[in-house]
Amino acid sequence: MSMVGLEVNGRLVSKDVPDNMLLAEFLRDSLGLTGTHVGCDTTQCGCCIVLVDGVSVKSCTVLVANAKDSRVVTVEGLSDGVHLHPIQEAFIEHHALQCGFCTSGMMMSAVDLINRHARVLTPEEVRSEMEGNLCRCTGYHNIVKAIVAASEKMHVR
Ligand code: FES
Ligand code: FES
Repeated sequence: MSMVGLEVNGRLVSKDVPDNMLLAEFLRDSLGLTGTHVGCDTTQCGCCIVLVDGVSVKSCTVLVANAKDSRVVTVEGLSDGVHLHPIQEAFIEHHALQCGFCTSGMMMSAVDLINRHARVLTPEEVRSEMEGNLCRCTGYHNIVKAIVAASEKMHVR
């Protein structure tokens, strides 16, 4: 066990955790942030993606000890509590979710992608860069449309 301190969705958290605890387990089981999903445990599906210091990471592959002192944002932290984040608005407007299991990971990945490019994205760029996120409902067409639209909302306003 070791004491780990980090910021999660703007809140400072400090807990004693097992050395082998994954960040995904910590978020879901210790903090109750169950919007981060675990779909494979083998680093393939991307359902567990969160932002660590602004970079999208698969939280099923990171030890919480390695996220010590970092700033983590999960899907629960996207909205400011009053307004939805542009990526959330775009997913609703473009019907980019079906069962919703992949949605949090898709949105967190997309936020990193849009922030990195800081301009309107093309559908081809989105398809290429989102290859680490799988949707078992296969709703890729609308997901791509939503991410392009969010890049417009975030960089053309
Ligand atoms: S649960 Fe992490 S990539 Fe699938
Ligand atoms: S919406 Fe069901 S897995 Fe993507």
